Amino acid sequence: MNIFFYATYSNQEEFFHTLKKKFKHDKVFTINDDVDLTKIDVAMVWNLPSNIFTKMINLKAIFSIGAGVDHILKLPNIGNLPIIRVKDPTMRVRMYNHVLSQILIFQLKLKTYDEAQRKKIWMNERYTPLNKELTIGIMGIGYIGNFVALKIKKLGYNVIGFKRNMTTNNKLFEIYNKKTINKFIQRSDIIVSILPDTKNTKNFVNSNFLKKMKKSSLLINIGRGPAVNEKDLIKHIKSNPSFFASLDVFNREPLIKKHKFWSNKNITITPHVAAITDHDSSISYLYKRFIDLKKNKKIKSDVDIKLGY
Ligand code: GLV
Repeated sequence: MNIFFYATYSNQEEFFHTLKKKFKHDKVFTINDDVDLTKIDVAMVWNLPSNIFTKMINLKAIFSIGAGVDHILKLPNIGNLPIIRVKDPTMRVRMYNHVLSQILIFQLKLKTYDEAQRKKIWMNERYTPLNKELTIGIMGIGYIGNFVALKIKKLGYNVIGFKRNMTTNNKLFEIYNKKTINKFIQRSDIIVSILPDTKNTKNFVNSNFLKKMKKSSLLINIGRGPAVNEKDLIKHIKSNPSFFASLDVFNREPLIKKHKFWSNKNITITPHVAAITDHDSSISYLYKRFIDLKKNKKIKSDVDIKLGY
């Protein structure tokens, strides 16, 4: 089969070489090859430009080299083309590590002590809650969210979940849906958003949502930036000095220099690194799915186009 690789990763060269090695029985092309795009069977991509995609008129499937598929759903006339996305076990371990680090920074008030250190202030001792005193609310209970929830629960935290269209309960932790969201927000001490970018999640965390959160609380966003209304968040933090946010994803990336988030002492910024795409493990996963496609001549899409994930 003919494969077309395109990515905007800083390590894309390394990624390409691993891919070429793994797919040695097939031909892997890039934008640098003089290739007839109508002959491409499978596109393996991250942020593929539309003008390249529209020329690949004989594609059998499109593979996302990341967990998110919003970059693919943006392409014109995607129709019923099967979309395969990476389900990488190392990605969920990294996500868990990141979430846990942010929970602990909040729980142990480390940001406050860090600020005091910069001013050479020896602060008085402050109460820090135990794990069992905190409820962590996880929004987006999919491949990654479910894993993070279970690992956090094992550490003794109370864990609840939110999934828009969930009707049945998970045996291991309570899951709220769009009808019961208020209770989910009010119960949570910390909310972790792993929501994808879809028409239903845009501005999901807005002033109305934030107002219902506890005054002393932490919002962690490791899903997609557009799920949080950035202006509402800044306003909310200004009037709630004990409210913190840890953001890995933003409406526009890279975050522009003049963005208000940079200088806000209650906001932690990481540059979309909560879970990097591990090339060995994600290519192994994509290879497995590719072999299925090759053997069966067809493949079931991982994505419900209507839901957007
Ligand atoms: C990263 O954001 C990914 O979707 O893999």
